[in-house]
This record gives sequence, structure tokens and C-alpha cells, in this order.
Amino acid sequence: MSDLLVRAARGERTERPPVWLMRQAGRHIPEYREIRDQYSFVEAVTNPEVAERITLLPWDRYQPDGLVMFSDILTILEPLGFDYHIESGVGPVIENAVSGPDDVDRTPEPIPERLGYVGELLDRLDDRVGDRTSLIGFAGGPFTLASYAIAGEPSRNHLPARKFRLQHPEAFGRLLDLFTEAVTEFLQYQVAHGADVVQVFDTYAGVLPPADYERHIVPRHREIVDAVDAPTILFVRNMNGRLQQVAAADPDVVGLDWTVEMETARSDLGNRGVQGNLDPSVLFADRETIRERTRAIIEAAGPQGHVLNLGHGVDRETPVDSVRTFVETAKNFRW
Ligand code: CP3
Repeated sequence: MSDLLVRAARGERTERPPVWLMRQAGRHIPEYREIRDQYSFVEAVTNPEVAERITLLPWDRYQPDGLVMFSDILTILEPLGFDYHIESGVGPVIENAVSGPDDVDRTPEPIPERLGYVGELLDRLDDRVGDRTSLIGFAGGPFTLASYAIAGEPSRNHLPARKFRLQHPEAFGRLLDLFTEAVTEFLQYQVAHGADVVQVFDTYAGVLPPADYERHIVPRHREIVDAVDAPTILFVRNMNGRLQQVAAADPDVVGLDWTVEMETARSDLGNRGVQGNLDPSVLFADRETIRERTRAIIEAAGPQGHVLNLGHGVDRETPVDSVRTFVETAKNFRW
């Protein structure tokens, strides 16, 4: 295994920052769109051979220091008895969303049985490129998953989940616990199948007011992070000004969205590893601007414990040349 990403994620000093992009295997790559003409999203995710081909597309083009498995945070819904698909123009749709407070007590089916395609994908990737790059596993965080399970579709500011927490506080807690346990087991399963680093995407948890985040989210994140035997990256959007709440769960790395000033993150978080955080829209600028903005982030982060990434997923219209420039800027940098 090439361990640059793992070393940076553990907070070590590295000769340059490792680099990968959230959503790097998706729609900005023309070959991805061709594969998707043949398979629905769920078909592509659940077929290890197809998912392997998609995961490797950014490898062939950019050789990033981390390859994030092609999958989705919603797969964990399956062993919990929810059915989902991605609807064009809408986004994720859960066909049998939580119908009320009595609908949260579920017995998960065994992960190796229902999500064996994820283990098989990681095994294949480990065989193919495991000695040349780091494999990144991931799972959704409890709030983000609960928000989809409650709303059944993307919802403005996650109002259905925020209402549910006040109308049915006990059931809300049990639903978060259900996801916390399932996600923990799922990440352990991914590490057992070769994931070198794992990222928890609790992308939407930042919509909760700080006191509720402290009470509902921090202990559950901590439980997940503590139980996984690999470096962990915790990504929550909209936490600018309260990054300590993300750090309170004690992940190895705090994922930063692009609204955070890198200098501020470093002074707020001390020695903890950070990931990010180029504004994805910078990849629509000219080459020199991309290089300058990327180097500015690298320099602001310093040589220790920095994983270079965007501040959120790569936009589907992004030119592949821009992604290449971004990756090369990191690869050509030396401390
Ligand atoms: O980063 C990667 O390249 C790895 C794969 C990955 C996907 N989704 C692939 C995907 C990862 C890590 C995710 C995470 C994810 N999925 C999150 C959390 C992080 C984030 O970016 O906010 C969330 C909230 C989801 C749920 C989800 N699945 C959304 C919002 C969408 C997009 C729906 C849309 O219509 O735009 C999906 C589908 C999805 N997941 C696609 C990809 C490449 C697009 C599917 C397609 O149309 O081909």
C-alpha cells in the first residue's frame, strides 16, 4: 500500500499533501456517463465488477493518492429494510420512508449478507491497486441517513427530520442509534475488506442548532470513530465557527467545507488532521488560478496532517483538465 494518505490522516508530516476528491468517480467523467447509460445507479452500485470499473476511472485519469470506492451512503438502508433509488432530477428517493415513531425499531439484517457487494468491491480494488494507492471506504452519518429515512427524499433544510426530533424525541434517538450501530458495523466490515481510511459523511448534521448537535450527534460520532480500527475522516458541512463540535468526536481528520478559512481551522483545531477545502467552483477557473488557489490552501494548512481535497463533491460539469491540474499541483508540491 502507498501510505501517503494514511500517514497524513494520522496527523504525520508528509513531503507533500496527499490528494483525492469527493465524488471523483462520478458524473464529471465521460466514461461514467457511458456506463450509466447501461446500468441504473443502484445496478452499478450493487454489481462489484461495474463498481470496480467506475472506481478505477479517476485512477486511470489522475492517479490520486486515495481511491474512494464507488458506492453510496444509502446502501446501509437496505439491511434496515428501506428501499431506495436515485430519481433523475430529484435525487435519492426512499420508497418506504419512516411512517411514524413506531416504524424505527428494526432488526438489521447481517451486513455481509445484504452488503456483500461492498466487501467484494473492496477485495477487487485491493487486488488491483491496493499497493499503489489508499482505498477509502465510507458511510453516511446518523443524522444524514435519518434525514433521508424520515423525509424519503431531499428536503429543504431537513425540516422533516428537525420536526421529528421535537415531535418524537425518543423515536428520533432510537433511529439515530439504529444508524450509529449499523454504520459502525459497516465501517468495520469495510476495513476488514481492505479500506485503509474511512470517511463518515454526516454532511447535513450542521443544520442542527449547536446544543442539539452536542446532545444528539457528538456522542454518536464518537462511538463510530472509536470503534473503527483505521484513520477516520469526519465530514459535516456548515460547521464554520463551530469546528470544535466536529473535533469533539475525536476523528483523526476533520473534513472542512469551502466556507472555512484554512488558517482559522488550524487555529481552532490545533494539531488535529484536516481535509479540504478548495471551493469546487474554482475548478471552473483557468489553470493558473486553480494552481494558485490550490497552493494557497496547501501553504495555509502546513506540512502536517493535511489531506488535500475539495470542500465538497466535484460538480458534474467540471472539466477533467481542471481536476488533473488540481491533482498535479498537489503532486508537484514539496515541503
Ligand atoms: O465520492 C465518490 O466518488 C464516491 C461515491 C459517492 C457517491 N455518493 C456516489 C454517487 C459518495 C461518497 C457519495 C456520498 C453521498 N451520497 C452523500 C454524502 C456526501 C455528499 O456529497 O453530500 C449523500 C448525501 C449521498 C446521497 C446521494 N446519492 C445524493 C445526494 C446523490 C445525487 C443525486 C442527484 O441526482 O444529483 C446520490 C447519487 C450519487 N451518488 C451519484 C454518485 C456518483 C450520482 C448518480 C448518477 O446520477 O449517476
